[in-house]
Amino acid sequence: MKIISVVGARPQFIKAAPVCRSLRERHEEILVHSGQHYDYDMSDVFFEQLGIPKPDYNLAVGSGSHGRQTGEMLALLEELFIERQPDAVLVYGDTNTTLAGGLAAAKANIPVAHVEAGLRSFNRSMPEELNRVVVDHLSDLLLCPTDAACENLAREGVSRGVHLVGDVMLDTARFFGERCDAQEVLARFGVSRDGYYLATVHRASNSDDPRALGDIIDAFSRLDAPVIWAVHPRTRKNIESFGLGERLAEATNVRLVPPASYIDMIGLLKGTKALLTDSGGMQKEAYFLRVPCVTLREETEWVETVELGWNRLAGTDPEAILAAVESSTPPAGHPDVYGDGHAAEAIVRVLEGELGEVGSHG
Ligand code: UD1
Repeated sequence: MKIISVVGARPQFIKAAPVCRSLRERHEEILVHSGQHYDYDMSDVFFEQLGIPKPDYNLAVGSGSHGRQTGEMLALLEELFIERQPDAVLVYGDTNTTLAGGLAAAKANIPVAHVEAGLRSFNRSMPEELNRVVVDHLSDLLLCPTDAACENLAREGVSRGVHLVGDVMLDTARFFGERCDAQEVLARFGVSRDGYYLATVHRASNSDDPRALGDIIDAFSRLDAPVIWAVHPRTRKNIESFGLGERLAEATNVRLVPPASYIDMIGLLKGTKALLTDSGGMQKEAYFLRVPCVTLREETEWVETVELGWNRLAGTDPEAILAAVESSTPPAGHPDVYGDGHAAEAIVRVLEGELGEVGSHG
C-alpha cells in the first residue's frame, strides 16, 4: 500500500509516531507536515524524541484564521494527493490539518482513514468539534479509540467502515513512558514527587477569553503547591495582550515554563499531585499514568475518564477548580478502556484488510 499521512499539530505527532513505525514495516508511507505548528518546541522536538521520520513534504502554512489556514492547506494537499495518488490518506484527531487532509482526499476520490474517529464533545462552538464531525462523515475508514466513539458514530448513522482499534496515544505512552526517567526530569524542573501541580491551557475558549484566562490564573494562585504551567505560545501571547501579566507575577506559586517535550511531559505527569488541563490528549495521558486530572472545561470527549472517577470537569470557575482538586483522590479501578497499547498495529491490519492488495506499491 501507498499511504499519505497528514500531520501538522503537536498532538498529531504523538499519535502518528506508532502508526508510522507499524506502517513502514510493510508499506510505503509519504509523510506530510502541514506546518500548522512550526516552533521547535511545538514540532521538531517531537519528531526527534519520538523517532518520527522526516516529513517528505512541509507545507509551511503557519498560523492564521481558521479559514485561511485550512484553505491554504486544502489547496496544497489537493495538488499533492492528485500527483502522488495514494491508496488512502490517513488523518489524525480534530485539528484544522485533519479537516484539510480529509476534505482534500475525499474530493480527489481517495479513501480517507480517520484515526481517533467518533469523538464528540457535543459543543459545536469548539472548532475541533466541527472538524471531527465533518471529517468523520467524509471518512471511509473510521478508526475509533473507544466503545463510546463507535456509539457516537452509530447515533449519527455512520456504521460502514467503523473499527474499534484502541487509542494510539496509549501506544506512544507505553513505548516512551518506559524510557522516561521521571527523576531526572523532576530534578531538571526543580520539583519533587507529589510536590507540585502540572498545568496546560490552550483551548480557544480559555486562552482567547480574558475572563476565563484570568479565572484560571486566580485558581492556580490559590492552589496549595507550586504549579508548573507548560504554556502554549498562543496562551503566552494572550496573557500579555490581555494585561494579565501582573496578576500572574503576583501568583508566586505559579511557574510558567515553555511547552514541554513529550518525554518531559510524561516525566512531569508521573510526578505530579494532579494535572489541570483543557487538553484532550493530556486527560488520557493522566489516566494512562494513573494521575488524577481536573479538566478546565465544561465537557469532555473522553467521558470514560470522568465516569471512572479519574477526571473532574471543573470549567474555569476558581471555586469549582479548587473543589475539584481537593476531591481528586485516585480511585481503585483502572480498566483498559483505551485498548492494549497496540492500536497502531490494529490500524495497519484494518488498512490492509480494507484496501486490498498488500504491498502493491512496495
Ligand atoms: C491546535 C488545534 C487543537 C490542538 C492544538 C494542540 C485547531 C483548530 N486546533 O490549536 O485542536 O489541541 O493545536 O496544541 O486546529 N503558535 C505559535 N507557534 C506554533 C503554533 C502556534 O506561536 O508553533 C501560536 C500562534 O500565535 C497561533 C496560535 O498559537 O496563531 C494558535 O495556533 P493554531 O495552530 O491555530 O491552534 P492551536 O491553539 O495550537
